Amino acid sequence: MVERVCAVWFSPCGNVEKIVRTVAEAAADALGVPAGPTVDLTPPAARTREYVFGPGDLAVVGTPVYAGRVPNKLAPDLARILRGNGAAAIAAVSFGNRSFGDALTELAGILRANGFAVPAAAAVVSQHSFAQALAAGRPDAADLEELRAFARRAAEKVRSGCLAGPAIPGSDPPGPYYTPLGTDGQPARFLKALPETDAALCTRCGICAAACPMGSIPPEAPSETRGICIKCQACIRKCPAGARRFTDPAFLSHREMLLRTCSGPVPSAFCL
Ligand SMILES: Cc1cc2nc3c(=O)[nH]c(=O)nc-3n(C[C@H](O)[C@H](O)[C@H](O)COP(=O)(O)O)c2cc1C
Repeated sequence: MVERVCAVWFSPCGNVEKIVRTVAEAAADALGVPAGPTVDLTPPAARTREYVFGPGDLAVVGTPVYAGRVPNKLAPDLARILRGNGAAAIAAVSFGNRSFGDALTELAGILRANGFAVPAAAAVVSQHSFAQALAAGRPDAADLEELRAFARRAAEKVRSGCLAGPAIPGSDPPGPYYTPLGTDGQPARFLKALPETDAALCTRCGICAAACPMGSIPPEAPSETRGICIKCQACIRKCPAGARRFTDPAFLSHREMLLRTCSGPVPSAFCL
């Protein structure tokens, strides 16, 4: 029997957090149990310890989709720090109107390997982190209502004792990462691209450094990136002065290609 519902997310730009919180709150409400602790795995320090769940828990676990997969710098952390011990989990991924690829099967697989049963999973269309005209403003009110209905059905499934895994679109095990393309149709190579800071605008407030999920921005030198950049856009979106941006031509070409080719309607997926 579920005694509490926990919300667990990695969410540099906030979409995943919104989705996971919405599902967790609606599931807790439907089950008549408290919403348990929330776990924000976005700051690097949060991924240095284990989170242990048990049979009385329903965990709603969410990540963004990067290149059709769970972000490659996050997947090993999830495998290392989340312990299910027979808990149930709802897997949720958020994607920017291109494709969720194999990310949902990958996340469900990580959770199952860590001792969770995964009776429900969802892939939710959300505003694209760096091609912001795609799915702009989503998840919106209608998306959140759809998520609440999904959460109620997932809660009903768990309450009935059925923890069987649903069919989830995507390859299991997951296939290769999506290769980003430029407007010329050729691979756009921007792995090493870094955000740039306009020194005239930067106030050295430190918000970018605190927002970086890789801990790669030194607060005392925000124009530098010391370590990995996963292109998540958190430092750019959260900068109150608008002082940061990517100028890498391959990155900008990929963004333009997405804007040209991925604006059509794409459904979210709800798996029960
Ligand atoms: C590096 C990177 C890669 C992405 N790859 C994809 C993708 O393959 N397919 C897609 O539809 N959206 C993709 N997106 C968009 C994100 O999945 C989407 O914006 C998500 O809602 C971001 O979650 P967040 O707001 O919690 O950070 C990508 C975003 C980033 C930053």
